[in-house]
Amino acid sequence: MSNSGKDSLLGNKIAAGVLTAGLVLWGANRIAQVLIPDEAPEKPAIQLAGLATAAPVAAAANALESVIPLLAGADIAKGQAFVQQQCAACHTLTQGGANGVGPNLYGVVGGPMFAHAGFTYSDAAKAKAKGNWNYDNMNAWLAAPSSFANGTGMSYAGIKNTQTRADVIAYLRTLAASPLPLPTPDEVKAATAAAAAPAASTPAAAAAPAAPAFSTLLASADIAKGQAVFQQQCSACHTIAKGGPNGVGPNLYGIVGAKSFSAAGFTYSSAVQAKAGQPWSPDSLSDWLKAPNSFASGTAMSFAGIKNDQTRADVIAYLNKNADSPAKLP
Ligand code: HEC
Ligand code: HEC
Repeated sequence: MSNSGKDSLLGNKIAAGVLTAGLVLWGANRIAQVLIPDEAPEKPAIQLAGLATAAPVAAAANALESVIPLLAGADIAKGQAFVQQQCAACHTLTQGGANGVGPNLYGVVGGPMFAHAGFTYSDAAKAKAKGNWNYDNMNAWLAAPSSFANGTGMSYAGIKNTQTRADVIAYLRTLAASPLPLPTPDEVKAATAAAAAPAASTPAAAAAPAAPAFSTLLASADIAKGQAVFQQQCSACHTIAKGGPNGVGPNLYGIVGAKSFSAAGFTYSSAVQAKAGQPWSPDSLSDWLKAPNSFASGTAMSFAGIKNDQTRADVIAYLNKNADSPAKLP
């Protein structure tokens, strides 16, 4: 089988991809000098066509921790520093500041939702614009913008850490002539009780069945979808064909079952060295691909991760297929 024509085409694609990836990374770094690694913007600079990665984390929304008990003791200076790093590329904060990629945020806490003068909101945001921003809906919005308003123009993954959300909201609150009052002691008590109740009354096991076991997802994985995701999200840095060259990342042919971080001729970051030499299983690959930078803090793989479990399973099933003898999946 000769496919040298294909190979040179592939070469062009890789070159273009690497260029694009470079731009995206540069853009992402500009937008967010990330304080907390897994809080990078979800879709940094370009929207890749047809990607279904925005899958909102419905489960996380149920479990969302309230910021109300934390607001009084929140660290406003930390919130301000965080906003400078992660939000200021898109938002101005001063009174009368210009709208940018996002609307000016002066007076937003307690103000009407998605209604800043002169800013054109997405339809997704307009559909959610009911009443004013309060501590609860602001908490939900900042935790996961695209779950709160599916299709929002705010390309930002969300602030997963509750204390950080509280710090940010406490800071945003100060950007007003008369800041929204902090929650009353009764409201704090109510929020604390609401948080404690489900935890106490729900047996731990009840939470688990919501997420199907990863092996179940693998069994029903869609290899064609996995391939499409790979083309769009991984192929800029990785080749997958047998004998393909290393690029920004190592060639991935035969990776399932192979020793981790051990591809010949590739120079890995020191971050992954401690994790090298373990055979990759679907489970360990899943951990890695969910959040590379949590798996190996400081890794050179500048990729936020695939948060959707089924999508991860699809990609792993596709990786598995690209091997001399694919492992038998459940
Ligand atoms: C990549 C650009 C971008 C980043 C980064 C970003 N935002 Fe936004 N933000 C937007 C856009 C665009 C909108 C309007 C949403 C829409 O129309 O769907 C928005 C809307 C908002 C709103 C609602 C404003 C209103 O008028 O009701 C708040 C609050 C907000 N952002 C806060 C933040 C905070 C806090 C951060 C950082 C933690 C942040 N944003 C990071 C682009 C961004
Ligand atoms: C921006 C470039 C980039 C993107 C995008 C990227 N990777 Fe990587 N990947 C790397 C780098 C660099 C490494 C080596 C990690 C290190 O040295 O810290 C790596 C390592 C890996 C490894 C471990 C390889 C080994 O030798 O054990 C796997 C598996 C992997 N990537 C899969 C993927 C998949 C699947 C995607 C898409 C969902 C993806 N990567 C997206 C750059 C990237």
